[in-house]
Amino acid sequence: MLKIRKVVAREVLDSRGFPTVEAEVTLDHPKHAGELVVGRAMVPSGASTGEGEALELRDGDKKRYLGKGVLNAVANIREKIAPAITGREFSLQSHLDDALREIDGTPNKTKLGANAILGVSMAFSRAQALAQGETSYRLLSSTFGSTGVTLPVPLMNIVNGGKHADNGLAIQEFMIVPAGFDKFSEALRAGVEVFHRLKKILSEKKLSTGVGDEGGFAPVFDDEHPHEQALLSIMQAIRDAGYKPGTDIFLALDCAASEFTDGKGGYMFEGTRRTSEDMINVYSGWVDQFPIVSIEDGLSEHDWEGWASLTQKLGSRIQLVGDDLFVTNPKFLKRGIESKVANAILIKLNQIGTVTETLETMKMAAQAGYNAVVSHRSGETEDSFIADLAVATDCGQIKTGSASRTDRIAKYNQLLRIEEQLGSNSRFSGMRLYERFRR
Ligand code: PGA
Ligand code: ZN
Repeated sequence: MLKIRKVVAREVLDSRGFPTVEAEVTLDHPKHAGELVVGRAMVPSGASTGEGEALELRDGDKKRYLGKGVLNAVANIREKIAPAITGREFSLQSHLDDALREIDGTPNKTKLGANAILGVSMAFSRAQALAQGETSYRLLSSTFGSTGVTLPVPLMNIVNGGKHADNGLAIQEFMIVPAGFDKFSEALRAGVEVFHRLKKILSEKKLSTGVGDEGGFAPVFDDEHPHEQALLSIMQAIRDAGYKPGTDIFLALDCAASEFTDGKGGYMFEGTRRTSEDMINVYSGWVDQFPIVSIEDGLSEHDWEGWASLTQKLGSRIQLVGDDLFVTNPKFLKRGIESKVANAILIKLNQIGTVTETLETMKMAAQAGYNAVVSHRSGETEDSFIADLAVATDCGQIKTGSASRTDRIAKYNQLLRIEEQLGSNSRFSGMRLYERFRR
């Protein structure tokens, strides 16, 4: 039994310089009387959010941080959560998370804010691991019922567009997928080398090498087809770094298409209005031309019909990931599974708001044969909980940005530590995750 001694919260800053919630949960040490353990966690924040996400509570007080303060969420932890759980014993994460959901009492965590609830949920998970003398990934893997030894393939977002940059690219993320390696550390090194090569290529073309929110470059490609230019530049960078596209390193996209809809059931893409079918044809063309293994949110979260036809057309060739579409919520994922929409889900803890519900969604995905990709948000912190979560669940993939900005690198560094700790017990999933869809 783990007795909660204290819960504290504060307003800190995220990678975009906006406030976010930090929570600390103090437990009595279960074995050493009089000793305490403290778990701490920080909550991330999205920019291209799905409408079905749990509520991120912001103060809206324009005099502080442009209305983005989180003092109300912090106060909810101090005044509502802390008094309700302090002094109580919780033997399992799910018991604590059930209590948190009960205090809130709403389906989308609108009363306390998912940022308040998740901060406490993650901090408890950390404290619980410390109390048991365990690493976070080992504790989470025993909760999830997995071996917890699989280092994820990093989906590295090296060109940023959409809402994460202001370079006119509709598509939000152009990622490299170094899946053709035996070890995470080798895959990461290859990805990072490509990032540096891309910088050189862009700079030689006199294009900007400034980075966007997730640490990828955000150049303005002065071309009729800037998206194809982005893909071609990345292909060149892979070759310049001495790797083979389609053997060592593959490509992935997060279109975040809900952000470029025209409000009338269509899409505005490269200056013209497109239907869902037009967009599917654009993607098919790219899949023919480039070694793309994964496309996330290729269509809008409201375009379920389009999604079904996207899945029919491309689901036997590549991974199709629902992010805004599923918002880590079992309710939407179930609909996707039943209607044969997508074949993978993006996992973001703050879309649903507790560790337990996140694990439940991942379990549902695994049981239905859907891949899962654990993901950061565009607004991040130095907290590297998602690195542990990815290993713990053996899901095999992580999306945590490019090879710059410490908010992104913190997760990669944690994965390097975990790989070292696991030693010869560690596994790397590599290509099999994408090959399983090929028919
Ligand atoms: P977000 O972007 O964190 O701004 O939502 C990440 C994504 O869409 O995957
Ligand atoms: Zn996304």
